[in-house]
Amino acid sequence: MRKKIIAGNWKMNMTITEAKALCDTLIPISNTDEVDVVFCVPSIDISTVVEKVKGTDISVGAENLYFEDKGAYTGEISADMLVDAGVKYVIMGHSERRGYFHETDADINKKAKKALEKGLTPIICCGESLEQREMGIYFEWIAMQIKAAFQGISAADAAKCVIAYEPIWAIGTGKTATAEQAEEVCGYIRKVIEEVYNKETAEKIRIQYGGSMNSGNCKELLSKPNIDGGLIGGASLKEEFAKIVHYNA
Ligand code: G3H
Repeated sequence: MRKKIIAGNWKMNMTITEAKALCDTLIPISNTDEVDVVFCVPSIDISTVVEKVKGTDISVGAENLYFEDKGAYTGEISADMLVDAGVKYVIMGHSERRGYFHETDADINKKAKKALEKGLTPIICCGESLEQREMGIYFEWIAMQIKAAFQGISAADAAKCVIAYEPIWAIGTGKTATAEQAEEVCGYIRKVIEEVYNKETAEKIRIQYGGSMNSGNCKELLSKPNIDGGLIGGASLKEEFAKIVHYNA
């Protein structure tokens, strides 16, 4: 039985002052051990949020890392820096980073390996564009993204990862994939993991859905057998996030 994981992705939102206020609102109503709850926050907010979640079951995630250990990489943040700051999870391969910042499958693979080496849990994002969906090539596209991300990663390490299926056409658009569409792809991703590794790894790995998940649609999405959680953007910045956390209450 896989434990659900509900992660907020704050993206480029929340100054330190705003982050403190959001934590004061969200932490008391989102703290639970029924599901894994993660706040993935901008780098500048990490220390503040780590301090705020102390003594709760909530974990803190980063939204990116660089795959080198240290050195002359202006503007980047290393896995060691994240670990030292108290971070447990790190998002990689988000379509916004692939699109705006040219993050490639090879980068994502290196980032996943570095995160695992340092004991961070990667949240590896994948997903198709509207054009790819309409052309009917989304299964092939996602299989390619998954295989590239996991290249050279052992089955034991793969089982620790989280995959987030985020159809690009559903991100920030208010247009959620139907529960059937999301389940179809999450089930397919699990088959790809089984094909690359084995059934045991496929049964262990957690697969989230992301894309306009909200308090109204989360219950149906999260009731599907292959959807193990959500990666939530817009709705993670307000009290609504706690309703998603408690989707089963
Ligand atoms: O990482 C989160 C996703 O991009 C979903 O964002 O909930 O605002 O559509 P959204």
